[in-house]
Amino acid sequence: MDGLRKARAEIDRIDAELAGLFEARMTAAVEIAAYKQANGLPIRDSARETEILARNTARIKDASLRPHYAAFQKALMACSRGYQAELLQTGDTRPLLNVHTAEGTYPVYLRRGALREAGRLLRLDRRVFLVTDEGVPSAYAQILAAQCGQVDCYTAPQGEASKSPAVLEALLSAMLQAGLTRSDCVLAVGGGVVGDLAGLAAALYQRGIDWYNCPTTTLSMVDSSIGGKTAINLCGTKNAVGAFAPPSAVLIDPDVLETLPRRQLVNGLAEAVKMGLTHNAALFARLEAPAGYGPIEDVIAACLRIKQAVVEADEREDGLRRVLNFGHTLGHGIEAAADGALLHGECVGLGMLPMCAPEVRARLRMVLQRLGLPTAIHSQAIDPKQVIAAAAHDKKAQATGEIQIVFVPEIGSYQFRRAGQELLRTMLDSLAGKEEPK
Ligand SMILES: NC(=O)c1ccc[n+]([C@@H]2O[C@H](COP(=O)([O-])OP(=O)(O)OC[C@H]3O[C@@H](n4cnc5c(N)ncnc54)[C@H](O)[C@@H]3O)[C@@H](O)[C@H]2O)c1
Repeated sequence: MDGLRKARAEIDRIDAELAGLFEARMTAAVEIAAYKQANGLPIRDSARETEILARNTARIKDASLRPHYAAFQKALMACSRGYQAELLQTGDTRPLLNVHTAEGTYPVYLRRGALREAGRLLRLDRRVFLVTDEGVPSAYAQILAAQCGQVDCYTAPQGEASKSPAVLEALLSAMLQAGLTRSDCVLAVGGGVVGDLAGLAAALYQRGIDWYNCPTTTLSMVDSSIGGKTAINLCGTKNAVGAFAPPSAVLIDPDVLETLPRRQLVNGLAEAVKMGLTHNAALFARLEAPAGYGPIEDVIAACLRIKQAVVEADEREDGLRRVLNFGHTLGHGIEAAADGALLHGECVGLGMLPMCAPEVRARLRMVLQRLGLPTAIHSQAIDPKQVIAAAAHDKKAQATGEIQIVFVPEIGSYQFRRAGQELLRTMLDSLAGKEEPK
């Protein structure tokens, strides 16, 4: 009896692992199908199938198992072919990219009109709990709701204040009252506030259920939609309570940016400037071009690729991922001291200026000005002491009192450095028109 129980437990464990591997294999197969379609190649490649079969069967040490393994491998390949054919028949379902995490892989779809394709790209033929906020045009939620099997909607008040324990509790209560189960899902439709709030609710509800992110602001498209960070604020501390909870998929439709106020649109582009400065000189040059940055989907795609590489290398923000905090040390301090008068991206833009070499700074200032982002602060409106205190309390502060900062010596590169409060003060002074930092 004991032996039977153990063997069954072992089979359950192996099946669970196989299920994850199966999904990963199918995701890769979809990418291959898309490549074949784009290049006019047939789905079935008999020569490669024979080669795979021979190679993999030879890996089985027990000769008596080889014919059984060959049957399993053949069935797997047939399954993969069938799935690819099904996807190609229903149209282009290629994601822009697949983000790999410790738990699995999730696709990011980016294309105009994607909102109307949601039913085909996401698993919405089940109970869906749609979360949005009052500032997001309700037409977007309606388009998505029409493609869901069964849908409940929750509309939070707009703005950062919704990332609070009170709103999180109200949202979780609504999910419970709707009778949401572990096989149902949450669909976030909005900016970074909705994504952070709904993602955290999904991570907590019944110890975690599926969630999809449909970002509708530039900032959430270029930055917060991938990486799996979700959070609310607590007692005035930003993102104090949260979870790493990757979405099951991200669906980005740049058409929704048409309704986004210009100030919000540009706010998100500050994060794109950040990614160009630290990782991709061509992206920076695009944003710098006097004729304009061209189709916004290209900017979004470039940012997503950078963020994907960074978060895949450091999912839990143990090291490299801190590069994404470029401009955020002073930026967060300025944001806290401005008390709502300045948007996050506007503060990040300001926070980046002193953190780069003089030649880089001159080009950055021009880009920010061209986009309509602020390049100086008025010390009457913003108390420098408050900024430094907020920066020093930042999560990047070291035990020594020094703060780790990201510095850009040349466009497309970065260095981690340490700065004391005095240096930060000089940097801040430079934003108020006093002496430039070296
Ligand atoms: N999780 C992460 O990795 C991460 C990264 C960066 C920022 N964030 C968080 O993101 C939040 C900021 O996100 P945000 O800048 O998107 O702000 P936001 O979510 O508050 O959206 C800005 C405003 O635009 C409105 N809006 C959204 N989409 C619209 C549309 N298509 N048309 C018209 N109006 C629209 C919203 O109602 C809101 O009033 C912050 O809380 C920040 O902490 C999270």
